[in-house]
Amino acid sequence: MSMSPAAFHTLLALCVVSAAASVVRARMPRRPSQPIEGQGGKDAPWVPTPAELVETMLDMARVTPQDYVIDLGSGDGRNIIAAAKRGARTLGVEYNPTMIEVSQRIAVKEGVAERATFVQADLYEVDISQATVLTLFLLPENLRKLTPKFRELRPGTRIVTNRFGIEGWRAEETRRLGGDSASCCTALLYVVPAKVTGT
Ligand SMILES: C[S@@+](CC[C@H](N)C(=O)[O-])C[C@H]1O[C@@H](n2cnc3c(N)ncnc32)[C@H](O)[C@@H]1O
Repeated sequence: MSMSPAAFHTLLALCVVSAAASVVRARMPRRPSQPIEGQGGKDAPWVPTPAELVETMLDMARVTPQDYVIDLGSGDGRNIIAAAKRGARTLGVEYNPTMIEVSQRIAVKEGVAERATFVQADLYEVDISQATVLTLFLLPENLRKLTPKFRELRPGTRIVTNRFGIEGWRAEETRRLGGDSASCCTALLYVVPAKVTGT
C-alpha cells in the first residue's frame, strides 16, 4: 500500500511526538504514593487514628522527652510523629514499605525526622522490651497474640490502645471522643503491672 507524502509526514510527526512524550514521562519525578484508608495490611488494614485521638492517647500516656514510644503497625506514622513532637524517642514498626516512605516524608516535613524513626518489619517480630510507651491501633486478635510480650515489658510501661482493648487486662483510664458514636473514638490506657513472684 502506497502512502502520500503528506500522510507519511503526519505519521512521522506523530511518532516523534510520541517518542518525546515517553522521554519526558521517564524523566518526570515519580509521584509520591498516597495511602488509601481501609487498604489491606499484613495482619490488619490501614485505618488511621483521628488526629484528636492521637493527642488524647499521648496525653493519657503522659508522653515526655524521657519516653521511648513504639507504635506497632504505624501506618502513616502519625502517632510516632506526634510523640516525636513531644520530644520522645520513637520507633514506628510498619510492614508496608510504601507506608514507611509516606511516614518518613511527613516526618521530614514536620521537622522531626531525627526523633521519628521507622522500620519496615513484622510487628510480631520486633523487640519492644525497651519501650516505655506503646501506642496501638490493632485488631483484637493482634492484641491477643501480642499479650505475652506485653507481660514481659518493664513494670510501669504504658500501653494506649485505640478502640480495642487488651483482653483480661483492666484499663486504668478510658476516654471517649465524639459523643456516643460506637465506632469513634475510644482510647484505653493500660499500665504494665509489677511482676508477682512466689505465686
Ligand atoms: C489500623 S492501622 C493503624 C495505623 C496507625 N498505628 C494509626 O494509629 O493511625 C494498622 C497498621 O498495621 C499495619 N500492619 C498490619 N499487619 C502488620 C504486621 N504484621 N507488621 C507490621 N505492620 C502491620 C498495617 O499496614 C496498618 O498500617
